[in-house]
Formats: sequence, structure tokens, C-alpha cells
Amino acid sequence: MPIATLQLNGSSFELPLIVGSEEEVGIDITKLRAMTGAIVYDPGYGNTGSCESSITFINGEEGILRYRGYPIEQLAQQSDFVEVCYLIIYGKLPTKEEYEAFRTKLTRHTMIHEDMKKFFEGYPRSGHPMAVMSSMATSLSAFYPEVDDPEEIDLNIIRLLAKFKTIAAFSYKKSIGQPYIYPRNDLSYTADFLHMMFAVPAEPYEISDVVARALDLLLILHADHEQNCSTSTVRMVGSSQANLFASVGAGVCALWGPLHGGANQAVIEMLEMIHADGDNFQKYIDMAKDKDSGFRLMGFGHRVYKNFDPRASILKKSAAEVLEAMGQQDPLLHLARRLEEIALHDEFFVSRKLYPNVDFYSGILYRAMGIPVDMFTVMFALGRLPGWIAQWKEMRSDPSTRINRPRQIYTGATERDYVPMERR
Ligand code: CMC
Repeated sequence: MPIATLQLNGSSFELPLIVGSEEEVGIDITKLRAMTGAIVYDPGYGNTGSCESSITFINGEEGILRYRGYPIEQLAQQSDFVEVCYLIIYGKLPTKEEYEAFRTKLTRHTMIHEDMKKFFEGYPRSGHPMAVMSSMATSLSAFYPEVDDPEEIDLNIIRLLAKFKTIAAFSYKKSIGQPYIYPRNDLSYTADFLHMMFAVPAEPYEISDVVARALDLLLILHADHEQNCSTSTVRMVGSSQANLFASVGAGVCALWGPLHGGANQAVIEMLEMIHADGDNFQKYIDMAKDKDSGFRLMGFGHRVYKNFDPRASILKKSAAEVLEAMGQQDPLLHLARRLEEIALHDEFFVSRKLYPNVDFYSGILYRAMGIPVDMFTVMFALGRLPGWIAQWKEMRSDPSTRINRPRQIYTGATERDYVPMERR
């Protein structure tokens, strides 16, 4: 068996290697503390494999992303979001019958309990929809308690996938003070979401094929991304055997931050700010290079991709095509392209291997669809949902899963005696 050798305080320790199906090598340190008394120190977990997983493969150096072995480019071009959900969650492409059965189940479970509708009344209209999404996802566990039976767990998975988009659309309707639009079973997953978002009782709403297809593409591109911050959170919470809805609710919170899913909102806000400032790109590039400014080029950089993010390449092309098909022109698309061009020739960005990530162009597409900026991260969550579910499911069925409980290097005070208040 291949091993790694560790020299520590004059002693030598042998650690087994673990090799993945794409020849990725990990040093298995599960016995390290017991053997040596030491732990590893890896803030931000940049070198830590937290699990074995057969769902998504990323090669950041070569810009490769595959779900269950299928290249993202092929899925983006030929599949739809419902099929990708099936693939990611169940591990294989569905037959026609399996696809139809799955699609039917997803359309039959879209309504939320009428009591849940009352929750929306309690939120302020200005409340961020991600706050609503996370608490609503967790609240589903009050209506559909956790069960042990695999079929019942599967039913909860369907419920979550089906109802999440209804909750997302209702949260938008609440924010603009319009009546909720109920789901329609005759529509596809994406068309139904658009209908719930944009239809009003007073007049018919025509769903644009271009928009529905663009939404499908966006959701496919976000569907899973191995052990990112929100997915690791779902696994972390689920490792204590918390139920699916609670684990996903925590994942929504982790996604919200501007360094993760919240970046798509931050990108558009940044582009709008630069546009309002007379398209002064260089000023903002210089600010991003100045560590003291606290400003980062949002939508740039990635922990794993060090060449290009294949999702960003697909979206850049698609943003231009969709805008053209819709007869729209967006100055922010032009601005984004110019900013990318300048950054990609700037030594600061080149030497740090900083490239546009998935969030750089996605916001331009969401804008073209009429989705408000506050809802961008909700769209990311809708796309990432099958990934969270599949990772939760994989974790729960893995016999090697233990409660996630990292260690630390303590740097606080050593033991000292308590001093009563009057003597301090
Ligand atoms: N603008 C300017 N400088 C940057 C940027 C940026 N967007 N990203 C990284 N850097 C610099 C950073 O200052 C550091 O420089 P130095 O080595 O001189 O100290 C170097 O590049 C490495 O950065 P890091 O913060 O150590 O890298 P990380 O792997 O910890 O963080 C990241 C990755 C995505 C959080 C970061 O690149 C970032 O903050 N990007 C902007 C936010 C963003 O677009 N997030 C979406 C990520 S993709 C979608 C998702 O997964 O949610």
C-alpha cells in the first residue's frame, strides 16, 4: 500500500495514501493524533479533504467540472435542470420513464402548506429573500418530520426540490406586495418558476422560451460544486444527524455571504457603481490591487479554479446570446467584458491566477430576465439545491461518516486564578 512518511520530533510515522478515481492523492491522517499527539493546521481547509464523494469532479488547474463524470459543457448544452437534478441525486442519467416519473413528482409537490403562507406575512417587505429562504427551508421540517425509511426520505427530497421554487417566488411576491401566484402543473420546472414570479392575476403572462432556457442553463451550471462553503455546511450540520430541511436551511445561510453565492448580487452592484462613476475601470482595478482599500473585484478569483472557471466561460457566451435574442442591450455586459479584459492583462491578477468566476456574468443574465438584484442569491440557492441534497444523502449513507468536529490550536491565556471583582 502506498504511504507517506512524516518525521516529527525525531520519530518517523507512516501514513497511508488514498487515491481517487481521477488520481487525486490524499494523505490519510485519520490516525494522526492517536499516533503522534499532533493535529494538522489548515485554516480555510484549503488542503483538507473532508470526505470521499462520487458526485462532482473539479480540476481547477485545467478548468474541468463534471457531474457524475459528465462534462458541464455537455450537460449545459444538451440536458435540462430536472434531468441534472436526477443525475446528481441518484447518480445516473434517467431513462425516459424515470425522467417522466421524476418530473411528475416534482410538479405534484409544488404547493406549500397554506399555514406556511402565513409565515410570509410576518416578514417585513424589505427583508432580504435569503433570510426568508433559510428559515422557510428549515420550517419545512415542522411540516414533514424526519423519517428513517428510505422511501420517506426520498419523498422529503422531492418535497424540498418542488417547494423551494414556490417559496422563492412567494418571497419575491411578498417583497413587492403582489398576491402569491400558485404553481401550475402543466408547466416545466423553470417555466413554472417564472410564472409564479412574474404572472399577475389581472392579465395573462407569456413565458418566453429564451428566458426559460436561459434559466435552465443557469440552474444547471450551479447544481453542484463539490465541497464548497455551503455544501460543507450542509454536510457539517447533517453530520450531527440533523434532518435534510434543517441542513439545507443552514446551507442557504452559508451561501448568502458575498464571498460565496452573495457575490452575484455584489457583482451587479459593483458594475452599477463603476458605470455610475463614468465607467472608470482603472480606478476600481487599482482599488482592488490596494489591500488597504478593502475593495475586491467581485466575481473574480476562486479557491479551486486557477486557470478559468468553465461555468463563467459558458455564461459569458450565453449572456451575449440571450441579450441579443431578447433584443436587449445592457451597458453592464460591455463593462464586464472590458473589466475582464483589463484584469486578465494586469500582473496583479495574472500572478494570483484570478479569473472571472460563475458569478461574474450570471447577474447580467438574471437582470435580462427581470429578476431583481436581491433575488440573485436565491437563484443560486435554487440551482445548488440538488447538490446540497445529493451531498447530504451521500453523507448519510456513508458508514464512515462521523460527526464533524474539527480541533484547534489554542492560543489563549494559560491557567490563571480568578480575581474577585472588588480586587480587580
Ligand atoms: N480581487 C482582488 N484581489 C483578490 C481577489 C479579488 N476578487 N480574490 C483574491 N484576491 C487576492 C487576495 O488579496 C490574495 O492576494 P495576496 O496573495 O497578495 O494576499 C490572493 O488573491 C488570494 O486570495 P485569497 O482570498 O487568499 O483566496 P481564497 O481562495 O481564500 O478566496 C475567493 C477565494 C473566491 C473568496 C476570493 O477570490 C474572493 O474574495 N473573490 C471575490 C468574491 C467572489 O467572487 N466570490 C465568488 C466565488 S465563486 C462562486 C462560489 O463558489 O460561491
